[in-house]
This record gives sequence, C-alpha cells and structure tokens, in this order.
Amino acid sequence: SAPDLQVSGTLHGADGATVRVPPGFVDLARQVICHRSGERFGLLYRLLWRIAHGERALLEICTDPEVRRVVRMAQSVRRDGHKMKAFVRFRQVAGVAPEQFVAWFEPEHHVVDAVAPFFQARFAGMRWSILTPERSVHWDGAALSFAAGARRESAPTDDALDDLWRTYYGHIFNPARLKVQAMRAEMPVRYWHNLPEARAIRPLVRAARQRTGDMIEAAPSPAPHKAAKWVPLARPCAPTGGEHPADRLRAELAACERCALHRVATQAVPGEGPPQARLMLIGEQPGDEEDLRGRPFVGPAGRLLDELMAESGIVRERTYLTNAVKHFRFQPRGKRRMHQRPDGGHIEHCRWWLEHELALVRPEVVVALGATAAQALLRHAVRMADLRGRPLPYGPAALIVTWHPSYLLRLREPAQRAEARAGLLADLRTARVLLDQDHRRPVGDLRAAEPPRCA
Ligand code: URA
Repeated sequence: SAPDLQVSGTLHGADGATVRVPPGFVDLARQVICHRSGERFGLLYRLLWRIAHGERALLEICTDPEVRRVVRMAQSVRRDGHKMKAFVRFRQVAGVAPEQFVAWFEPEHHVVDAVAPFFQARFAGMRWSILTPERSVHWDGAALSFAAGARRESAPTDDALDDLWRTYYGHIFNPARLKVQAMRAEMPVRYWHNLPEARAIRPLVRAARQRTGDMIEAAPSPAPHKAAKWVPLARPCAPTGGEHPADRLRAELAACERCALHRVATQAVPGEGPPQARLMLIGEQPGDEEDLRGRPFVGPAGRLLDELMAESGIVRERTYLTNAVKHFRFQPRGKRRMHQRPDGGHIEHCRWWLEHELALVRPEVVVALGATAAQALLRHAVRMADLRGRPLPYGPAALIVTWHPSYLLRLREPAQRAEARAGLLADLRTARVLLDQDHRRPVGDLRAAEPPRCA
C-alpha cells in the first residue's frame, strides 16, 4: 500500500508496521510520487526495502542505478512544477460576474496538487480555475478544491490579456542577446501552444539580426534624466554655450551619486582655485568642516597646509586645491563624525571627477597629499616610503607624492611630527621650484603614467 508520508522519517505501512528511513527519503518520495512513470511506486518500494534491510546510506550512493533513476525523476517533477508556475496563463471567462479566470495547462507529471498552493497565494484575490487533462483545481477566494480533469475546449482560448502578454514579451525580447538554444531550454516548445506570447517568438527571432543591425546603426537614444547625470561631459575642457566648464563641472558634481557616500555626506566638495592654476594639490577627501562648508582644506588639516604653503612660497589663491574623493566618509561616534578612509571603490568612482579636473586645469605640477591621492592618480595602491618626495613624470606634468597634513596632526611623538613636517615642507618647496623650472625634462626613473585627457 502507499506509505503515509505525513510522518517525516518514519513510514507507517497499512499493516501497522513502521520503517525508519532517512528524512531525505520522504522528501524524495513526495516528489517521485508525482512522476508520470508507472514504475514510480515499484522503484520507491525497492529503495524502501533496501533501506529497511540495512542500506541506510543508500541515498548517498549517487552511482546506484535505482537511486540515480529516482533522483532524475524528482528533478523532472520539480522542473515541471516550475514550468507550471511560469507558464500558466489565465483568461477571463466572458460574461461572468464576479470575474472568473480559467487557464488550460498540460503538465508533464502529476504536479497540480503540489503547485496549487503557489497560485492560491499568488492570486488570492481572484476566482480562478486551472484545468488540466487529468486534474483541475479551483479557487473561489476562500478555499481550494480539486476535481477531475477537463477538456481543452472548456477553457477560454483568447482574450485581451493575450495581446498584453505579446506586447510584454516583445518588449523584454532583446534581439542582440538572442540565444535560441537557451531560449528553448527555458521555454520548451511543448508549452508553446498554451502561451499567447509564443506566437510572437518566431517573427521576433526572424527579425532579430536585422533589428540588431538597426540598433547598432541608430544614434544612441538620450539617457533618462537620472542617468544623464553620469554621461561624461561632452567636452569638459571647452566652454559650452557661454557657461564655463568649471562651473558646469561643479554643478554636475553637486548631483553626484556615483557611490554610496552621497547618502551620508552633507554635500560633494568641489575643487577650488583658478582653472588656469599651474599647481594642483590633491588631498584625500573632505573632513568634517569641509563637508559642512563645502570647501576643501578649511579645517585643521587645511590650516596646517596653509601654514606650510606660505612657508614654502606657494600662494593658495593661485593654487587649485581638490580631493581624490569628493564626499566625506565618516563613522558616527556619539555626536561626532569620525573620519574613515575611503576605500578603493570610492577612489575609483571619484577618479572620474579628478580626471576631469586635471583635464580642465592642466596643471604643470601636481602634489598628491597622502596615499589616497597617489593611488587615485597612479591607479594602484602605493607605499609612501617608496615614492615620497621624488618628482615623477605624470603625463605632461610633474607629480610629487608627499605626506598628508592630517598625518602630521595624528603623530603624537614631537620628533616624528617635526620630521614629517620637514618632509612635507621640503616637498612643497620642490613643487615650488619645479614651477620655476622647465620640469618637462624627464624626471625620476618611473615610466610616465597615463596622462588624463579630456573625453
Ligand atoms: N583632508 C583632505 O584630504 N582634504 C580636505 O579637504 C580636508 C582634509
């Protein structure tokens, strides 16, 4: 007799005998019982007999022919259940109130009972029936009921929803991504005759090559408003319609959502200084004060930098100051916002802005303050000890990598701080001297880095 599968792990036979089985067997049997094959009960019984007679780990032996066979049967049943969920198409019964929907479906296996709860949950507010050749299921808004099979003619064949399905399918069909084999595997031909959208498939496939060619030929369509923010500025270096590109860059940066930092920072902090500056100083990211005021280097690190620039003969007003990352990254601690280093992703996303600034200003000397700025420029993580203070070629400019002023502020040991200060000051002086020289002569011994250029 068919075992009672309600009890997981213990099967009760009709004669009162019980057999302990691994729980996996019960799940497997539940699925295999739905298989169309007439040998399903015999196969399951053989497995049960073998398990009961000592082969406790039988289901783990995937090379066993009987195990293999039932596992395949279970797979096929599961797949059929998925297909039923995906390919049932309801049609409205004409002239019936309240509304009633009926679908015709031809499952491969006996999956109607197992899949019905899915439709109950999905279309709880609708009155519907799914008719199949062997079994029907009905939902009246309150309860499921099952009945005998039906004939195809009992289900409506065409309604306004069919056109909607075809329109939908036409829209999601991407001719440039056409893979007929994969499509057939996903949507096997045996289900097509019940799918309203199937009628659209052949014409769409036939026209795919032509449509792909047309798409390549056609001019790109304008990006939607939100995406338009990320379209690179057409010519950031050239004035457009009277608006200075630096102003345009600022305006676009203000709307930057390239990474998640914009969600927590007060604002994007743009670079500051004359667009024709010969010297560009690049920091890491705005700090707490910069974030609130919207200007770079106006907090404690900025004040130290001002002091050092003055000592080295650099005039701030003639220098372009900016950051590798334009939004403040922090961690809240009580009422305070503690600086957090930007990660590689933030640097990568923000390089887009930095490169536009470099292309716009075209500085002759670039000073990277700290490892983040150096990483943004050189596109790889750097060790300060390897690069600090040695002028490097950077496209047509000279690059100097030096300490970040915040690093000095963090040093507790006076001797260490004095040493770092002297190093930073010396590097700024080098930048100052380079501006006075023809630095375009080869400098350093590194390969020239890729120069930033306008799009
Ligand atoms: N640190 C930076 O790197 N940049 C600023 O603007 C302020 C502090």
